[in-house]
Amino acid sequence: MSFFSVKGLSKHFGGLVANNSIDLDVEKGEIRGVIGPNGAGKTTFFNVVSGFYTPTSGTVEFKGKVISGLHSSKIAKLGAVRTFQRAALFPEFTVLENVIIARHLNADTSLLNAIFRHNTKAEAGNLARSKEIIEFLGLKDEQDNLALNLSHGHQRVLGVAMALATEPELLMLDEPVAGMNSSEKAVMVGLIKKIRDTWGITVLLVEHDMKTVMSLCDKITVLDFGEKLAEGLPEEIINNDKVIEAYLGADDIVA
Ligand SMILES: Nc1ncnc2c1ncn2[C@@H]1O[C@H](COP(=O)(O)OP(=O)(O)OP(=O)(O)O)[C@@H](O)[C@H]1O
Ligand SMILES: [Mg+2]
Repeated sequence: MSFFSVKGLSKHFGGLVANNSIDLDVEKGEIRGVIGPNGAGKTTFFNVVSGFYTPTSGTVEFKGKVISGLHSSKIAKLGAVRTFQRAALFPEFTVLENVIIARHLNADTSLLNAIFRHNTKAEAGNLARSKEIIEFLGLKDEQDNLALNLSHGHQRVLGVAMALATEPELLMLDEPVAGMNSSEKAVMVGLIKKIRDTWGITVLLVEHDMKTVMSLCDKITVLDFGEKLAEGLPEEIINNDKVIEAYLGADDIVA
């Protein structure tokens, strides 16, 4: 039994088939890349497996439990959490406050306790863990700055911090290095590796940037027109003729 297992997953929008009978199995501790041309159905796939959309057909199992059809908040509580292609932050709050809020949104402890700084034992624990996550991701110097004042790279790292605040076992990242310069990309690649290597978190990653995909992923799944076109080791995928024709030869790859 796989840690995360998708079987025959389809998502239709009216007559448009965004995902067509996708099978995908991810092992615990793996970093899996999902690539493919614009409109291939990658974000839709994330939206379905994380419970933001209901599948038209097919099933998703996580840790042996069927999660397809469950609400996104329930799936997050079970430990499968996604980030968004565009960062979803609270711009007028500090980095630390953003992480604390994210922690509460997925926990049964009261957000009001945090807002009114009620110094309960649970709140002290939340604060300590939030600070630990911020430090782990290299954001300690930004801890008291407002999210809106962060660089784009740091805003994306904060998005990851907010996902980690919910203590996921499966972290799904939608284009984590989009819009970043090369040094910001290198930082994000290092952090994703560290998240897996240190905390053993399984990572599912949608990304156009092939350098990032090649340096991070244990295995890659390629989607094209909503279907799985290929799957394999990074070196198999970049040498796969079908993949080169559908995607890697195209101009739309963000280098
Ligand atoms: N909510 C929706 N309603 C209708 N059609 C949608 C919806 N979401 C996605 N689609 C369509 O589904 C198809 C797949 O889109 P999706 O966003 O999943 O692609 P993608 O692989 O993430 O693309 P990109 O690389 O550009 O982010 C597209 O044709 C898109 O227009
Ligand atoms: Mg997308």
